[in-house]
Amino acid sequence: MASETIIKFDNVSYRYDNEDGELLPLVLKNVSLELRAGEVLAVLGHNGSGKSTVARLCNGMAVPESGKVTVAGMDTADESLDLEIRKTVGLVMQDPDNQIVATVVEEDVAFGPENLGIPNPELRERVDAALKAVDMYDLRSAEPSRLSGGQKQRVAIAGVIAMRTRAVVMDEPTAMLDPKGREEVMSTVFRLRDEYGIGVMLITHYMEEAARADRIIVMDHGTVALEGAPSEVFKNEKELISLGLDIPQSAKLASALRTAGVALPEGIITPAGLISAYGKEFNN
Ligand SMILES: Nc1ncnc2c1ncn2[C@@H]1O[C@H](COP(=O)(O)OP(=O)(O)OP(=O)(O)O)[C@@H](O)[C@H]1O
Ligand SMILES: [Mg+2]
Repeated sequence: MASETIIKFDNVSYRYDNEDGELLPLVLKNVSLELRAGEVLAVLGHNGSGKSTVARLCNGMAVPESGKVTVAGMDTADESLDLEIRKTVGLVMQDPDNQIVATVVEEDVAFGPENLGIPNPELRERVDAALKAVDMYDLRSAEPSRLSGGQKQRVAIAGVIAMRTRAVVMDEPTAMLDPKGREEVMSTVFRLRDEYGIGVMLITHYMEEAARADRIIVMDHGTVALEGAPSEVFKNEKELISLGLDIPQSAKLASALRTAGVALPEGIITPAGLISAYGKEFNN
């Protein structure tokens, strides 16, 4: 069954202007993409390829110069829909410290829905449910400044969940985290998909994170260079390297083993894929 499209870019082009209001060259050129409910879409691309610009266009923080962005069918260029659009798509940014606004965890999570005018007891219910969804309920009375980076990011994600958005756009949410914090955020990403049916756009520099997504989009100089299932996209090792990217470690190891004569199938991109193929090769 095809899932509903939450975010849709139709031939979107975009450019910034400088302090004098002069237009700079296009940074997005005819970008078309879709984020559907209940999927994790990874967005990869070299520095400056346009990933964060895509994120800003997803909830109307920026609007296209040409082409169209719609959120659940609503045109982001229509200012009268701003609030409805922000209720539908949440943003989580890179720096965990820049997103926390309150001095108590649960107050921080309540901030967004409170601003939407959600009254108690619904507000209380939403905040509690969101904190449970990211596994931070036990720390609801904690002071955010005392939390680890991974915990802070989960509080930021809870803030978005409490607004009951249908999609979340995360711009390198794990970039400033240690391995444990990264895994905490990644498992939360899959929980949003599996338990809440939320569509997640995960902008990342980590090939291993992209390998776990349902689909990948690869950006290059403001265009979409590659798109497809991770096992398909990561077949293009040479092209990815020429785009300033790489393939996951497991894919590299599988490729080295194949070169050494081990009959592994194509399309191995995760440790789990490697383990299951290795078992088949050696156990029967
Ligand atoms: N506020 C701005 N004013 C002018 N140019 C900008 C602005 N923000 C971004 N750009 C330019 O737009 C292009 C795309 O930037 P963007 O931040 O979207 O890339 P990115 O893929 O997110 O990069 P990174 O991996 O470094 O985060 C770059 O050339 C960048 O220099
Ligand atoms: Mg960026």
